[in-house]
Amino acid sequence: MGDDARRVVLPAADWASAVAAELVARLSDRPALRICLPTGETPGPVYAALVAAACDGRVSFDRATLVMLDAWVGLPPGDPARCDVRLRAELVDRLPRPPAAFIAIDVDGPDPDAAADRHDAAAARLDLAILGLGPNGHVGFNEPGSRPDDPTRLVRLAASSREAAVARYGATRVPTAGITIGLRRLLGAEEAWLLVTGERKASILRRCLEDPVGPDRPASWLRRHPRLTVFADEGAASLLPRG
Ligand code: GLP
Repeated sequence: MGDDARRVVLPAADWASAVAAELVARLSDRPALRICLPTGETPGPVYAALVAAACDGRVSFDRATLVMLDAWVGLPPGDPARCDVRLRAELVDRLPRPPAAFIAIDVDGPDPDAAADRHDAAAARLDLAILGLGPNGHVGFNEPGSRPDDPTRLVRLAASSREAAVARYGATRVPTAGITIGLRRLLGAEEAWLLVTGERKASILRRCLEDPVGPDRPASWLRRHPRLTVFADEGAASLLPRG
């Protein structure tokens, strides 16, 4: 346990294909993998490479279980920013053979706390947690203040996250809250990958990996994971110590 995360730094042009190739290898070893998947802009090129690999017959998700990492609460069904909409459009619905299961977060029901509890059960046995990094150091919607034993839960979103829903992802309205797999489940996954691209993430990535671990930058808790790989492109890694 500790700061021995594997750091993979790649030129931007190679980054998505390298991450996808590593997932193709995992799936070929263990086709029934249970994976949680993020949305946002970072994983999009990886999903495109995975779709291409699946269409070429180099990988199949037909025995895999895909679990949503997080979701906005308060966006209507079909909203383009919704995480279920994005994951389906970028990956799930483009696969030539569907996954064995796609476990979405029920954000449309009357009881979001109960939906979070159900999703906590779905996230209990993850083989691989694939994660993005928020500009404030959040992971999923584990916003600053989150702790390593936090369960999957309904969360109040940081103002910057609420604004990003409209400004960056084209939401038709500002979400009211979020539901996220908690750090307890993410740290309990057999393996975790943190995907980070672009110079705009360089400063927060450095702080998450090099400053003391703590709740101000929730992604820093991932350094306690025994099998963490950070996949960064050269822009995101530009402020990390060499070597
Ligand atoms: C979003 C999501 C995260 C995502 C992160 C980074 O708000 N809640 O799951 O990984 O912020 O997003 P992006 O990849 O668009 O920078």
